[in-house]
Amino acid sequence: MPFKKNFLWGAATSSYQIEGAAYEDGKSLNIWDVFCRQDGKITGYQNGDTACDHYHRIKEDVKLMKEMGLNSYRFSVSWSRILPDGTGAVNQKGIDFYNALIDELIKNGIEPLLTIYHWDLPYCLSQQGGWLNKKSSDWFYEFAKVVAVNFSDRVKYFFTLNEPECFIGHGYSVGQHAPGYKLSDREVLNAMHNALLAHGKGVSALRKYAHQPVKIGIAACGSGNFPLQETKEDIEATNKSYDDIDKTYFFKFTPWLDPIIFGRYPEKLVAKYKEVMPLYSEDEMKIISQPIDFIALNIYRGDRIKSSEKNEYTVDKFEDGYPMTALNWEITPLSMYWVTKYIYNKYKMPIMISENGLSSRDIVSIDNKVHDPQRSDFMARYLKELKRSADEGTDIFGYMHWSLMDNFEWSFGYNERFGLIYVDYATQKRTIKDSAYYYRQIIESNGEIL
Ligand code: BGC
Repeated sequence: MPFKKNFLWGAATSSYQIEGAAYEDGKSLNIWDVFCRQDGKITGYQNGDTACDHYHRIKEDVKLMKEMGLNSYRFSVSWSRILPDGTGAVNQKGIDFYNALIDELIKNGIEPLLTIYHWDLPYCLSQQGGWLNKKSSDWFYEFAKVVAVNFSDRVKYFFTLNEPECFIGHGYSVGQHAPGYKLSDREVLNAMHNALLAHGKGVSALRKYAHQPVKIGIAACGSGNFPLQETKEDIEATNKSYDDIDKTYFFKFTPWLDPIIFGRYPEKLVAKYKEVMPLYSEDEMKIISQPIDFIALNIYRGDRIKSSEKNEYTVDKFEDGYPMTALNWEITPLSMYWVTKYIYNKYKMPIMISENGLSSRDIVSIDNKVHDPQRSDFMARYLKELKRSADEGTDIFGYMHWSLMDNFEWSFGYNERFGLIYVDYATQKRTIKDSAYYYRQIIESNGEIL
């Protein structure tokens, strides 16, 4: 069976990772501009100053999307480009850039999908505490309002936040991402709560100021765990692994999605961290849990799970030589099937895959093409599992490959290539990789050739 009618087939990017033009047209500094300049954060002090220079190459890049047969494209808006002071005065040049992008997409029959926040907080707001500041959700409300007022006449799909798991987890606990904090659980849980409130207020701003009925979701991520064997015991163990709360609770789905969908934190989180949970009112939980239209998932890999004697679960270690991507992430297509089943059964919401892909050591070959069979293979395997889930009734309405083009892979800089388009950073020359042509065939058949 093919995927649903009008399935959204696209690719995703984010502002800091591709735009460049870091000091142009009134954009102010964001936390990544600053973080990249700190010692020892990013290999070789690489940064997003120029990135893929997408800011100056909209027409060329949309033309490539069209050639690849995409019917949709997910991008994010740089907060410090349109609100250089974080709140207050709007920078018209920033608005003009996104208007031009959206218009070009629509002219080419490509549905624009807009992520409001993909990690590039204005530095001036971070200096006021960033997500630790209770006011952060009001700042975000204002940002979401500006986005709604200016873009929602043409954009119908919005994601409030991209992976709060990562921008709080990596940014405020692990310290690997901007702003590089390693805080206590009390502070991390407080930042999580504020980010959840921001999501909720972002939904209100979109509903209030959108020029047309819009579809709103959040892009969540987590480990796409799957059973070692498809036995009752291993499947139950897998579900337990999803629901479990451990030391890295901020990377799990439930501490984010339970408040958003059910209006309460998971019992396991509250039980484990009751002494350090933030104080919040019922009204705040209502703001967080106002209705959204879909859950978006960024899925890359997962753990292999087996049941264990104590009726719990065990992570089954991958054997030596298990297939991996260039970033040493295990290739686990079954993640796609099991994570979508788990999320759909639990939250009963339509699902979009908002990111999925791999980093590989791509090169431009002597024939001037980029042969990346490993990416085509990865895509086929993951999409087959997504289709199996859809065939069994999971409501899945889109798939965005990460990424449209090679780009700035955060703390790993430019060495990790995730794109369907190869970027030669010295010349900014783009080359469509073989995998993108394979993706085009999948799109043309609406997944039937899988
Ligand atoms: C993020 C992207 C990132 C990708 C690959 C996701 O966590 O949303 O910005 O480039 O994964 O690491």
